[in-house]
Amino acid sequence: MAAPERIEELKSAALAEVATAGSTADLEAVRVRYLGRSAELTEIKKSIGSLPPEERREVGGSANLASREVEAALGSRTEELAAAEREERLRREAVDVTLPGVPHKRGSLHPSQRVIDEVVDFFVGLGYGVAEGPEVETDYYNFTALNIPPGHPARGMQDTFFVDEGVVLRTHTSPVQIRTMLSQEPPLYIVCPGRTYRRDSDPTHTPMFNQVEGLAVDRGITLSHLKGTLAAMSRHVFGGDADIRLRPSYFPFTEPSVELDVSCFVCGGDDPNCKVCKGAGWLEMGGAGMVDPAVLSEVGYDPEEYTGFAFGMGPDRMAMVKYGIPDLRLFFEGDLRFLRQF
Ligand code: DAH
Repeated sequence: MAAPERIEELKSAALAEVATAGSTADLEAVRVRYLGRSAELTEIKKSIGSLPPEERREVGGSANLASREVEAALGSRTEELAAAEREERLRREAVDVTLPGVPHKRGSLHPSQRVIDEVVDFFVGLGYGVAEGPEVETDYYNFTALNIPPGHPARGMQDTFFVDEGVVLRTHTSPVQIRTMLSQEPPLYIVCPGRTYRRDSDPTHTPMFNQVEGLAVDRGITLSHLKGTLAAMSRHVFGGDADIRLRPSYFPFTEPSVELDVSCFVCGGDDPNCKVCKGAGWLEMGGAGMVDPAVLSEVGYDPEEYTGFAFGMGPDRMAMVKYGIPDLRLFFEGDLRFLRQF
C-alpha cells in the first residue's frame, strides 16, 4: 500500500482507539502503539530520507499531520479521563467528618501529685528553690548528719529498709536538707518533694509514700517565720479558712520541734462525729522545727550567725483528708476507676 494511504489508515485506527480508551493507562498504551519509538508511523517517518525526492514532501507532511492529530486527541482525552479518575478517587477516599470519633481516654493527675504540685507551687511563689536527692541513700545523710548517730533510739522508730551495709532506702526527705546545705551557702530556701520508704503497711501507712521537705536558713529566722509560713501554705492547699496549730514534739534534727496540725476543713471542729477528723477538729500534717545547731555545724554553717526552720509533710496524708479518701493503699494500687475520679 502506498505510504499516504497507510498513514491515513493508521491515523484513523489510532483516533478510534483513543475515543474508546477507558482509562489513562489505556491511552498511554495507545500512545506507545502509534507514536512510540517502534511504532509503524515512526518507522515511516524514519524512512522518508530514503524515498524519491518527489514523494518526500507529501509523505513527510501527512505523517507529521497524522502524528499531531493523534497527539492532540490523546491530550484532550487524557485530560478528560484524568479528571474523571481524580473525581472517582476523591469520592472513594472521602472521609465523613461528621461521623463520631473514637474518644481518647483522658488521664488525670494522681491525688498525691496534685497536692505535691500545690505545695511546691506555693513555695516557688515565695521564692523557694526545688531540690531533689536520691531514694537510695547512705546511712550518713539519712541519719548521722541529721543528728541521729549510730545507736540513737530514733533509728529504731524509722522501720528502715536496708539495702546494704550503710545503705538504706531513705526513710524521709530530710537527707536532701543535708545534701543541699553541703553544696550551697546560706541563705537557703528550698522545698524537696520525693518518695520515701518504711517497713509499714496498714490503712494509713504504705511502704512507699511521699514527703515534701522544706528548709529555710538565713540570719534571724525564728519559729514565728515557721508558723506564718505553714499557716499560709495550709490556706493555699486547704482553703482560706484553714487554721493551724503547732504542738510540742521531738525530732533529733530540730530544737524545738513541733507537730503541725491543720484545722479540719470539713467540720471546722464543730462536728464531734466528723468522719475526717474523728471529732478532734484537727488533722496531723507533719513535723517541723528550728534546725538543730548540731545539724548546722555538721554542714559547716555557723549556728551563731544563721538559724533555720525545717518541716516535713506527708502529701499523701494531705490528699487523703483533702479528698476524703479512707484508705491510703488505694493511692498505690493504680486502679484506674479510682484514679479517674480526680
Ligand atoms: N523527717 C521527719 C519524718 O519523716 C519529718 C520532719 C520533721 C522533717 C521535722 C523536718 C522537720 O524537716 O523539721 O518523720
